[in-house]
This record gives sequence, C-alpha cells and structure tokens, in this order.
Amino acid sequence: MKGVILAGGKATRLRPLTFVTNKHLLPVYNKPMIFYPLEAMAKAGIKDVLMITGPDHAGHFLNLLRSGGEFGLNLTYEIQDEAGGLSHAVRLAESFADNQKLLVILGDNIFEHDLSDAVKDFESQDRGARIFAKEMDEAGQYGVVEIDSEGTVLSIEEKPKKPKSKLAQTGIYMYDNQVFDLIKELKPSTRGELEITDLNNLYLKQGILSCEVMKGWWVDAGTSFDELLRASNQVAKLTKQKDK
Ligand code: DAU
Repeated sequence: MKGVILAGGKATRLRPLTFVTNKHLLPVYNKPMIFYPLEAMAKAGIKDVLMITGPDHAGHFLNLLRSGGEFGLNLTYEIQDEAGGLSHAVRLAESFADNQKLLVILGDNIFEHDLSDAVKDFESQDRGARIFAKEMDEAGQYGVVEIDSEGTVLSIEEKPKKPKSKLAQTGIYMYDNQVFDLIKELKPSTRGELEITDLNNLYLKQGILSCEVMKGWWVDAGTSFDELLRASNQVAKLTKQKDK
C-alpha cells in the first residue's frame, strides 16, 4: 500500500495567515502542520508517499521535507495546477499508485489514532474503500457520515445544513485500485470541485465502503483559527505527556 498526502488548496479560511505561505507549513505547536500526516504515514508502516501541492509554494515543501528520509519515508512530489478538489488531486496519483492500494491523508488533519491495524486489514481485503469518522459537535462543517447500529454506512453528505448524525468524515481514506476509474465518472460540485464525498458515495453505491470510528482526538486544522489553536493545544498536551 502506498500513501498520498494532499497539501494543495487555497486555504481561504485561514487568511491572512495564508496570504504568503501555504497552510500546511504553518506551525502546529512545535512543528510545521505537514509533519503530522507524514508521521502518521510512517507510523502506519507506509514507505512510499506522494506529496501533492499547489504550484505556489511547492519549493518550500522540497526545502523542508527533502527526500523524506528524516521521517523514514521515500517522498515523491506532484503539482496540482488548480485547486480542483480532493478527488481531482487524488487522480494525480494514478501512475505513482502503480495498481497498489492507497492511504490518502489530508495535509491539515492531525490526529491521535494509530492507522497500522487498519492498513494491515485493508491490505488483506479484496477490494473497496474505507473512511474514518469522528464524533464532532458541529459535524455540519465537514462531510457527515450516517451509520446504522452495526456500523454499516447509510449515507455521506458534504457539509449538510441538517446533519443526519454527529459523525464527521475525517480526511483519512483508503482506496483500492479502481479509484481512478471511479474519479473519471465524477462531475464538479456546485462549488466547482471534484468532491471526495462523491467518490466515497460511488463506493457506497457498490456496497464496498466501510467506516471506522477513530479513537482519540482529531482536528481538521484548516477549518478555522480556533481549530488551528486546538490542534496546537492537543499536540502540546500529548508531547508533554510523552516527555514525562
Ligand atoms: O478534513 C475533513 C474534511 O475534508 C471532510 O470532512 C470533507 O468531507 C472533505 O471535503 C474535506 O473538507 P474541507 O472543506 O476541509 O476541504 P479543504 O478544501 O479544506 O481541503 C482539505 C485538504 O486538501 C487541505 O489540506 C488542502 C487539500 N486540497 C484541497 C483542495 C480543494 C488539495 O490538495 N487540493 C484541492 O484541490
């Protein structure tokens, strides 16, 4: 299984912090934001990771992350010319994937959950996709996942006005190698993007989408200044606990 980290996009919600730099290079406690998804990849046992960034600050990612050796990873870089949405970015990983399954992590997602078991489990499964969810008070600002009492996914809606549950779809996804054919079927949403939720719904329609509820805290640090601050506070707490 290979890894893909999405670190493009415009990050309008964090302006003015993101006028002259990329969101994923902003500090979260004592490290640049992008270090956390990279560390999560390494911890999950993934070796080859594709970093997808926009053209504006691509050089800064190279300067900072270089070969990825410091993380125990082999990094490859790809440019997404326009912020065409998460599925549009995943499509750029087709030749890198080389028919292997993919673990995709959004570059602004910071979390405690260890993905190693899920990676092993997904590797051994024939086909399908897996999403990861977390109960959140204001789930409507994310993709929202509705599951039944057995954990079967019933629906996923992107930022719905009336959320059907409190389960937010996080920015962690696992896909088999039919993902690129499915992305080709997608049409841009009303905000003009190829949405990850539409892609996940294509797997749901085939009955091969599973959902794992994550342990520990999860933050989408790109949502707001408050969430960015919460990410720093959570990481600080964890770092101090480990240092004790
Ligand atoms: O974090 C979880 C949420 O991520 C999910 O609940 C939503 O279902 C999903 O659509 C996504 O929502 P966001 O509104 O947070 O997506 P955002 O535009 O902030 O982009 C998420 C990450 O992907 C961010 O790190 C930048 C990167 N990105 C984004 C776009 C639009 C790209 O690499 N390319 C892109 O074209």
